Amino acid sequence: MSTYAKKGAYLALVARRKDRLDIVAETSRQLGSGDVIIIPGDVANVEDCKKFIDETIHHFGKLDHLINNAGISQSILFEDFSQIQDANPIMNTNFWGSTYMTYFAIPYLLKSKGRIIVITSAAGNLPSPLATIYSASKAALLRFYEALI
Ligand SMILES: NC(=O)c1ccc[n+]([C@@H]2O[C@H](COP(=O)([O-])OP(=O)(O)OC[C@H]3O[C@@H](n4cnc5c(N)ncnc54)[C@H](OP(=O)(O)O)[C@@H]3O)[C@@H](O)[C@H]2O)c1
Repeated sequence: MSTYAKKGAYLALVARRKDRLDIVAETSRQLGSGDVIIIPGDVANVEDCKKFIDETIHHFGKLDHLINNAGISQSILFEDFSQIQDANPIMNTNFWGSTYMTYFAIPYLLKSKGRIIVITSAAGNLPSPLATIYSASKAALLRFYEALI
């Protein structure tokens, strides 16, 4: 984000914690960003993802780059989840969060001939016993964006 800010980019910042977004927004302004808005919310929630894009377009009028960075990790063996549903947030954030955002952003990115940047992980290609669902979520992202191109 600091690289974008130093280049004077206009930024719409998204995360769940507003207090952290306020800090990143202020730092981005100091580094040179021309305009920064924050939109608190959860990428695992499809309505929030629509809101992130709608508010960005309402404020800036266009979208050049979508950066899908939000992700949560895992450091537990698959059989040690106390209930299997506890694994859901990993896939919901890492895979569905990126794909929801991409779905709502695509009409505007096509107009601007913009770009999608997605943060995957070496774990998407390398087996890791303590990161089964995390690895699966990153492998799914890799295959999804390869197919989307
Ligand atoms: N750190 C590594 O070694 C490493 C290695 C390979 C890949 N990656 C990937 O790089 C990305 C960033 O990792 P990091 O280590 O910088 O993680 P981090 O320090 O935990 O930061 C994650 C960011 O995502 C946000 N976020 C998490 N869940 C969210 C949700 N449901 N909705 C909206 N925002 C959410 C967090 O803010 P809130 O908590 O306020 O929402 C935070 O700003 C991830 O995709 C990760 O998988 C990291």
